[in-house]
Amino acid sequence: MCGIVGLVGQKNNVVEAVVYGLEGLEYRGYDSAGIACTDSGDTKIICAKACGELSALKAQLHEQPISGLAAIGHTRWATHGRVTLENVHPHFDCSGTIALVHNGIIENYHELGTMLKAEGHIFKSDTDSEVVAHLLESILDRGLSPKKALHELVSRLDGAYALVIMLGGRSDELLFVRKRSPLCLGLGKNKSAVVSDLVAFDADIEKYAIIPDQTYGFLRMGEVEAYSFDGFSAEITYTPHIHNASSRDRGGHAHYMLKEIYEQKGIVHRIVTALNDLGDEWIKGLGYTSASQASESLKKLTHVDLIACGTSYYAASLGAFFLRDIAGIDTSVTRASEFAYNPILMKNRLYGVVSQSGETADTLEVLRALKRQEQSVFGIVNVEKSSMAREADGFFAMHAGPEISVASTKSFTAQVVVFYWLALKIAHSKGLITLQQLQASEAELLWCGNKIEETLENNKSSIEHDAAWFAQYKTCLFLGRQESFILAAEAALKLKELAYIFVEAFPSGELKHGPLALVDQNMPVVVFSSADPLVYQKIVSNAQEVKARGGRLVVFGFQDQTALLNLAEKSYCVSGFSSYTQCDSLLGPLCMVAAMHYLVYSIAKVLERPIDKPRNLAKSVTVE
Ligand code: M6R
Repeated sequence: MCGIVGLVGQKNNVVEAVVYGLEGLEYRGYDSAGIACTDSGDTKIICAKACGELSALKAQLHEQPISGLAAIGHTRWATHGRVTLENVHPHFDCSGTIALVHNGIIENYHELGTMLKAEGHIFKSDTDSEVVAHLLESILDRGLSPKKALHELVSRLDGAYALVIMLGGRSDELLFVRKRSPLCLGLGKNKSAVVSDLVAFDADIEKYAIIPDQTYGFLRMGEVEAYSFDGFSAEITYTPHIHNASSRDRGGHAHYMLKEIYEQKGIVHRIVTALNDLGDEWIKGLGYTSASQASESLKKLTHVDLIACGTSYYAASLGAFFLRDIAGIDTSVTRASEFAYNPILMKNRLYGVVSQSGETADTLEVLRALKRQEQSVFGIVNVEKSSMAREADGFFAMHAGPEISVASTKSFTAQVVVFYWLALKIAHSKGLITLQQLQASEAELLWCGNKIEETLENNKSSIEHDAAWFAQYKTCLFLGRQESFILAAEAALKLKELAYIFVEAFPSGELKHGPLALVDQNMPVVVFSSADPLVYQKIVSNAQEVKARGGRLVVFGFQDQTALLNLAEKSYCVSGFSSYTQCDSLLGPLCMVAAMHYLVYSIAKVLERPIDKPRNLAKSVTVE
């Protein structure tokens, strides 16, 4: 979603560095971008804005360069007001000497706007953000110092916000405010920076700090002055910054999504090794502080509640199967946006938040609400410096590496692997399985890890061939049972998101209770099979029901499932994993996942969709 970059530099021009930062933020999703800069002694703030891709803004800057010693930039993802030039950040006060960029939502913008309009302020945009510029103008007009003005400003704003503010002519400093929306500071060679995501820093930044929640302050060359909202000095703790430029390139692939699909090769091995390296400390991931506390609590633990959104929700749903079947823990999964309305808080429960970004607002707000009620919450998170990783009692890093494409691919796989490993560890610690059984199950997990790319490679040419056939349909049905239904649901989310094809996923047993009415010769029905022999038999019956109505049957199946594979018009097969393989059938979806991703990718490519940045979507959904 929206991204912020602010820079104070020593040399003219910091604008290029802001553009570099905004390029790093592009993956988060945006629909317009803008930059403002100022020079010392000149109260003028110069600005450039463009709707659409960052390339439009860059072209404009090429035609009409702007320069200054301080600059702020923003990528906007429309919430309040359409995608128009007026709504692009930075926003200004009436005098044009205050410019600001904003992430989050100002909840009382309407009341403030009405009051400021009555005072004579003229608004140019439909955004909630512009209100802040006029409010600050009205406060500064009373003769308050910038520090006192910020103190009053935060007392009058409701909502979640990260703000970076520039005062015309004061090129030696930027003002910043953080409440609930992420914002980080960076200090380095010849520049100081304030950004909403660490990826926006360049190689010059030597150390960085996450700004504590409810803090405002001033960023200058090589120094920061920060205050908590109650006016006391705030402590800023720095960490060395290591710039990872390679996460920004596509590694020779046409899209980040393709790069990330291929990065699933070897991911299982990497994650299992990293998690095993935790040794006895693994219990800290669940938020326990000592082995004895963990062992006592795990024995008493009756229920785990997992909370997540989108793809992370489906990974958590597979995790629930693992925790129930392997670790004997009753586990429920709730979408974060729904959880807020219905939390039943009970003793001996453990809550888990699951998120690639660790910044998804719905999930983060549930975490914070649970913490306020003194519940234990652990996380499974990819971005290790994220808010969720910091605020949960403990967390397991997913070790998936940066994921740039909006569609979650390798992070889904990583989440599934972490859950499987975790279920084994809990089962062992509860005495449900022996060390030997744990090691044998881990070996099965690693074996399935190798199947991820093998299955993709074995089916690649059929998938490429079939993509055009799929692309002609406007609707589709995806079916599965038990763990394979979760994969069907995740695949349906992917196809909607990337190809804009309407897909419904159903547990295949539900067919006769309604969806079968949709099936005819114009309806592709994709069945995700299970490696469990009993579940498989039922899936075959459901596939026959589809076939009998003329449905266009497509199957993701396992070797030896000939009865099912022979019914299908098109099929993609996991080799060496049959209903009779001595491998946990719950791991079946893991073997199919990259082939499923590649099918969706290929269909979206045929349809010429913007694969890495699907319309209307953002990588990290930082507003509720
Ligand atoms: O960063 P998170 O895992 O918390 O994001 C949650 C969802 O927004 C995300 O999984 C989304 O559904 C996927 N990008 C879809 O591919």
